[in-house]
Amino acid sequence: MSLQNDESAKSYKEMSIYQIWVRSFCDGNGDGIGDLYGVYDKLEYVKSLGVDAIWFSPLYPSPNADFGYDISDYRDIHPDYGTLDQFKKVLKKAHELGLKVIMDLVINHTSDEHKWFRESRKGKDNPYSDYYFWRDKPNNWESIFEGKAWEYDKQRGQYYLHIFAKKQPDLNMDNPKVREEVKAIMRYWLDMGVDGFREDVINFISKEEGLPDGVPFLPAVNGMPYYKDGPHIHEYMAEFRAVCKEYDGCFQIGEGPMTTIKSAMKYLVGKDKSLDMMISFDHMMADCLYTEYVHRPFSLIKFKKAMTRWQEALDGKSWNALYLENHDHPRIISRYGSEFYHRESGSMLAACYIFLQGTPFIYQGQEIGMTNIHLSSIDKYVDVSSKTNYHKYHLKDSADKRLKRIYFSSRDSARTPMQWDDSKYAGFSKVKPWFYVNKNYIKVNVAAEDKDESSILNFYRKCLALRKGSKTLLYGHYKEHFPKDKNVYMYERFLDNERFLIVCSFSGIPQKIQYPASFVDKKGELVLCNYGEKRNAKTPGFEDRFKGDIENFALSHNMLRPYEVRVLMYK
Ligand code: GLC
Ligand code: CA
Repeated sequence: MSLQNDESAKSYKEMSIYQIWVRSFCDGNGDGIGDLYGVYDKLEYVKSLGVDAIWFSPLYPSPNADFGYDISDYRDIHPDYGTLDQFKKVLKKAHELGLKVIMDLVINHTSDEHKWFRESRKGKDNPYSDYYFWRDKPNNWESIFEGKAWEYDKQRGQYYLHIFAKKQPDLNMDNPKVREEVKAIMRYWLDMGVDGFREDVINFISKEEGLPDGVPFLPAVNGMPYYKDGPHIHEYMAEFRAVCKEYDGCFQIGEGPMTTIKSAMKYLVGKDKSLDMMISFDHMMADCLYTEYVHRPFSLIKFKKAMTRWQEALDGKSWNALYLENHDHPRIISRYGSEFYHRESGSMLAACYIFLQGTPFIYQGQEIGMTNIHLSSIDKYVDVSSKTNYHKYHLKDSADKRLKRIYFSSRDSARTPMQWDDSKYAGFSKVKPWFYVNKNYIKVNVAAEDKDESSILNFYRKCLALRKGSKTLLYGHYKEHFPKDKNVYMYERFLDNERFLIVCSFSGIPQKIQYPASFVDKKGELVLCNYGEKRNAKTPGFEDRFKGDIENFALSHNMLRPYEVRVLMYK
């Protein structure tokens, strides 16, 4: 069956999805913390972007050791964010606006304050005893966030496993009761009307029997060979898939840290298909290793290779989750773009991934070009992994150098309050927000960009609308051109007789380009460009300069301006 005829898949394939990390989105009740009252008021804004769905990072009660990813109750809403009733109001209004709602399903671990863990630690004869992994003697695994992966619990007199933070004990998915709990949680939210799930670190939920010692040379992830894509993963995933299938239109997106195409495919196609999309990480490592720990200069070649590999491997078989930002990654302009060429690089980055084959995800603030925050001391950062990164790694580096690494890598940069306008606290709240506002809010904010036709915000809107209106951009095949070019990413999308050429400069220096031979002598129409005539009244604008010659533009004008992007259509 061809992709565009697969009706059941149509809904999520034609979507784009906006991610809300609620704590920093909008404070509706004036306590400095983002909440569901704020979300309710901003739903029209979300809709105005042209997106079709919202993914909520965890909204559940949580001690916030990992800001919501340590859940203490799967069936309620964190009091900071509102009530279950308020959530239902948001859900209803979102649906009325034609926005689907996806919840984060975090089932690799709970909070140590979850009732199951509080019971489990009471002793071996407790009904929740085997909900977690308890051992008298830990193995050598290290956790991803906080030192050893085992923590001694005095009450139980044993060690428990935590692949992430100490306050995130891993659930024992081999216990059928735990899987029943997961299914009941899924049904609980689906019955309420939510439309699907984003499933947190889902490729980690089945552990190798006996939890063997890991390989010593992989700090922080030495146990990964024994918990990534573990022995029973596909059986467990099938059980969860069956629940999703009970509900019309339900879809599932998995997060797969360190996943490869080969292992992702097992979740995405064939008899074991258990996910509609997999959030992969390859393309997020074009300037780092494991996001946080090792920073290196951005390599467009690495980025393009990752994109092309996934595009080609999934074409006709599955579907990509496209993203450049989320709550786990620093801001993309500060990484792959340029804060100096803010508008140019922010809009180029939008086009460079939205027109790939897949479902684009846009993370709050990305659409206005929010950038990384630089705080004066590590003590001001709040993310557990940033703190570990600073205090436990690269200790030979000076304090200054370590702090600079945090500027590049911290997840906190994605978690600063959303910049709504240029009033105090960026219109996020009337009182001092729970976290620092980026100083650039004076310029980089929704209100200012909304009014400015050539803003990053309006460019996102244009990209999303263009994609949605075009079968070729939605379903067309992908072909990369000039893969060895270190500064320009050029790719084609084609279907039937229509072709699009997307040309992106990743450089602040003008780039001389060629067009692929198959495009030479063809009439193209420039359908989108981030250098428009309104941009700067004094410089001759793009349309002006090429007036009368726009069809031949692509052939005659072989120079890309800094971070310029062109989208050309050929029929
Ligand atoms: C996922 C989440 C991240 C969290 C981790 C542990 O990677 O996106 O925010 O810290 O899982 O739950
Ligand atoms: Ca609030």
